[in-house]
Amino acid sequence: MKKILINFAHPAKSRSNINIALRNAVENIEHVTVNDLYANYPDFMIDIKREQALCEAHDIIIFQHPFYWYSTPAIMKEWLDLVLEHGWAYGTEGKALAGKVFFQAITTGGDASNYQKDGYNEFTLKELTAPYRATAKLCRLTWLPPFVVTGVHQGLEPEEIQSYSAEYKRTLIALRDSLLDLEVLTQQETLNNNHLVSRSE
Ligand SMILES: Cc1cc2nc3c(=O)[nH]c(=O)nc-3n(C[C@H](O)[C@H](O)[C@H](O)COP(=O)(O)O)c2cc1C
Repeated sequence: MKKILINFAHPAKSRSNINIALRNAVENIEHVTVNDLYANYPDFMIDIKREQALCEAHDIIIFQHPFYWYSTPAIMKEWLDLVLEHGWAYGTEGKALAGKVFFQAITTGGDASNYQKDGYNEFTLKELTAPYRATAKLCRLTWLPPFVVTGVHQGLEPEEIQSYSAEYKRTLIALRDSLLDLEVLTQQETLNNNHLVSRSE
């Protein structure tokens, strides 16, 4: 079984609806570790060695967060700036992350139709997360498209929250148990609806 690290970033958890539901659905799964960045580092003083050791101890690294200004909450940028050191994450000798899997689990206020070429935002979520894809490549990570929950501002029905949470849980278990074809997943727009992409042996 693969080990999964969720770097969780939400600066206002008490007001979160969907991220907390997603997190609650997966945090007790065997081989899943939730690393709550804002809880651990309220002053942004990130413990680089601790974070690097966590990454080294896991096979799949997830950044779970609400979409803020078409990107991540601020602490995730700080995490990248500090933790991904030359000689550890990238560079000739920097192979600590090589071969691990990386993806984002994103929730957006805007609905899915906004995140289309001809929609309000003019870019898809796969396109808007390109800096993370490029970062993953530099660090020799296997990048997967984001798992997304859109349309949070419209208000999700309890059944929708439950459905997304169940899908997130099923996705993590399938990845943990190496049941999905990662190459095929990479071609998808999102990681959602991946039950059709089983690994053929
Ligand atoms: C500072 C800030 C920036 C945001 N930027 C975006 C954005 O760029 N695109 C978007 O669709 N929603 C944006 N939102 C809405 C959040 O993504 C949305 O409230 C969140 O995904 C809901 O998740 P939660 O219930 O776990 O808080 C923003 C919200 C805040 C507070």
